[in-house]
Amino acid sequence: MMGEIKQRWVVIFLLVAACKLQWAHGEPQVPCFFIFGDSLADPGNNNMLPTGAKTNYPPYGVDYPQGATGRFSNGKYAVDVLAEKLSFDHHIPPYATASGPILLQGVNYASGSAGIRDETGSHLGENIPMNKQLQHHQLTISRMAGIIGDNKTTQTRLNQCLYYVGMGSNDYLNNYFLPERYPTSKSFTPQAYAQALVAQYSEQIMTLYKNGARKFILPGLGNIGCVPQAIRLYSTNATVCVVDMNKAINFFNNELVALVDRFNKNLTDGKFVYVNSTGMIIQDPIAAGFRYFYQGCCEVTENGQCVPQSKPCATRSEYIFWDNFHPTESMNVITATRTYIAEARSDCYPIDVRSLALLDLATAKAI
Ligand SMILES: *[C@@H]1O[C@H](CO)[C@@H](O)[C@H](O)[C@H]1NC(C)=O
Ligand SMILES: *[C@@H]1O[C@H](CO)[C@@H](O)[C@H](O)[C@H]1NC(C)=O
Ligand SMILES: *[C@@H]1O[C@H](CO)[C@@H](O)[C@H](O)[C@H]1NC(C)=O
Ligand SMILES: *[C@@H]1O[C@H](CO)[C@@H](O)[C@H](O)[C@H]1NC(C)=O
Repeated sequence: MMGEIKQRWVVIFLLVAACKLQWAHGEPQVPCFFIFGDSLADPGNNNMLPTGAKTNYPPYGVDYPQGATGRFSNGKYAVDVLAEKLSFDHHIPPYATASGPILLQGVNYASGSAGIRDETGSHLGENIPMNKQLQHHQLTISRMAGIIGDNKTTQTRLNQCLYYVGMGSNDYLNNYFLPERYPTSKSFTPQAYAQALVAQYSEQIMTLYKNGARKFILPGLGNIGCVPQAIRLYSTNATVCVVDMNKAINFFNNELVALVDRFNKNLTDGKFVYVNSTGMIIQDPIAAGFRYFYQGCCEVTENGQCVPQSKPCATRSEYIFWDNFHPTESMNVITATRTYIAEARSDCYPIDVRSLALLDLATAKAI
């Protein structure tokens, strides 16, 4: 009896010691977190660009501590919540303004209206496409090496970081499904377009890998046919999603899952995680507090963004959408929570982000 109790204490002591090692003084679970993407993650990189795709004005940021930073939401993004769950003491700063030692903990390169393809979103003005975000990452790496003072230590650090790459929605919304502006829908069937996009994406992800990235988070696309703007412009029935759009992104997501499989097989010193955005169906949205599924919380302009200085709805937590494209903080918290620790087996594939963060790739390779 006594022996058993003693053993338990030893186990508890070891657990506490292990936790302390892992999270001493609230240390982040990974040394850095890099974010590539579009307006689902842009923290203000578009603010200084000549473009309509920027939101550094109220009511954007009404629930964010620093107000209208340029985030395309009322509050936090899923990547902000992920940074908190990973024990970072700050949200990852925008590339446009980040400098100094904070770079060592990661940078957010995301740009509203940007895509995998360079021309995507260009009718709205300038943006930072994925190819340019990768060039920015090269510059960050040189700056990091300058601060650390040693290339090898910098590479070792880069190997341990998380890389969130969430691109593709605009290659549909602000390219393929705007036939009067872009020719892609004339040259590609939806299936061929998905293949071409993921082939290009694969090259871009490989560039990151060659730059030392090993732990990847690759979210699939959400059902763009269910965003309020798509329903407003294209749906024949104001309560029903646009089927063709959802079918098109389904091809993309299937290609992306296949890519994740290939990468996990071929690049055994890395780990690639698919986040099943469309699969995260909220079984009981009413119980989760939602009441409005297909309509945004703010009054919108013709382009689907909130009218500047307008008064948003009072109960943001009842809305899935903030404006006509982007989810509310309430929705982002749910997505991030299930991305970090999968709730359903299908949420993350093959493992969730907490497991990815804690994965020791050197050991994983040896096994
Ligand atoms: C580190 O890498 C940079 C370019 O990536 C190079 O210019 C520099 O000479 C390297 N420094 C050392 C000490 O190898
Ligand atoms: C729209 O869809 C809803 C729900 O599926 C249905 O009840 C309604 O009859 C539809 N309206 C039209 C005009 O088709
Ligand atoms: C993985 O390797 C297979 C076989 O060598 C090759 O066909 C495939 O293109 C590779 N995939 C990737 C993503 O590198
Ligand atoms: C995504 O989730 C759906 C169910 O919500 C499931 O049918 C599908 O297999 C999942 N995809 C992956 C790649 O796990």
